[in-house]
Amino acid sequence: MDSFAGKLAVVTGGGSGMGRELVRQLAAQGCSVAACDLNTDSVAQTAAMARAGAPPGVRVTSHACDVSDEAQVLRFRDELREEHASDHVDLVFSNAGIGGGESFVTGRREVWERTFATDWWGVYYCARTFLPLLIASGDGVLVNTSSVNGFWATLGPGVPNTAYSAAKFAVKGFSEALIEDLRANAPQVRVAVVMPGHVGTDIILNSLRARGLPEPERMTDAQLGELIPREAWPEGASADELRQMLVQASADFRDKAPLSAADAATVILDGVRSGAWRILVGEDAKTLDALVRAKPEAAYDYAELGRMAAETSGDDNT
Ligand SMILES: NC(=O)c1ccc[n+]([C@@H]2O[C@H](COP(=O)([O-])OP(=O)(O)OC[C@H]3O[C@@H](n4cnc5c(N)ncnc54)[C@H](O)[C@@H]3O)[C@@H](O)[C@H]2O)c1
Repeated sequence: MDSFAGKLAVVTGGGSGMGRELVRQLAAQGCSVAACDLNTDSVAQTAAMARAGAPPGVRVTSHACDVSDEAQVLRFRDELREEHASDHVDLVFSNAGIGGGESFVTGRREVWERTFATDWWGVYYCARTFLPLLIASGDGVLVNTSSVNGFWATLGPGVPNTAYSAAKFAVKGFSEALIEDLRANAPQVRVAVVMPGHVGTDIILNSLRARGLPEPERMTDAQLGELIPREAWPEGASADELRQMLVQASADFRDKAPLSAADAATVILDGVRSGAWRILVGEDAKTLDALVRAKPEAAYDYAELGRMAAETSGDDNT
């Protein structure tokens, strides 16, 4: 696929972050887009921005859809068929995702299952729903977003990430398994798996919202305690101090990331255009991938991993 012009793409989670930037960049390059999100207002805003930057003839529609609910994904497909008057799609970006469900041992089961349902079942339902339309395209690409947590299942010392990692490993495994399946049974479709490192987005706030919590400033003490059990609060911190820390952590995640959402979307689109099936996004993702592949047994030995990283960056400087 040399160009996205004249194509029709689906983008899930189009209301924010990488999804929003994918919609905007695709539209600017002449691709019509059907974008969905849990958050109807934000995806409508994305569509308005994308239309403003798109050449004539490009159609961008926004849709309400929770990808973890198959009935809603099917309804989204039906809306797309009608509003774009099309019986095929050329590209599907299964991008919607949330964090949460860090500890399997101490975390709440509903939160764990909500994260897994969005990050895995969402990708699965979109593949089930849209594969026939990708086949009908004659030149379709399914682009599933995993993460570095799709090959490295932790956020570092003392910070487990079990639901998210389980889902992202599943997305990566499923996507890789589809390579041969599509080659054998639907050669007019290919699959790519996207593995971003740290990208500056509002995923922390959006993940809280997806589980029904308000922004940290507006959380009640009970909601704070539900998010972070009292015994895990920093020593001596008051509820107000904890709210402030959460606000800061979320802003820092967005503003101090090594890569912006717009640059990440460009990397993803360049990767898709080039025909790559494995799209690492960011230097951090590339480094981590190389380290884990070089010595898988050291993946969870942080000291060893750190030594290997230092040696690698030393190599790069020579
Ligand atoms: N930001 C990062 O550092 C990073 C790193 C690795 C992987 N990722 C993955 O990249 C993807 C995009 O993340 P982002 O950082 O741009 O996040 P984001 O929060 O900015 O955007 C994600 C969008 O998905 C939507 N969403 C959440 N649950 C949904 C559901 N059930 N149905 C439909 N929409 C839903 C949210 O409302 C939000 O608009 C996610 O799959 C995420 O796991 C992000």
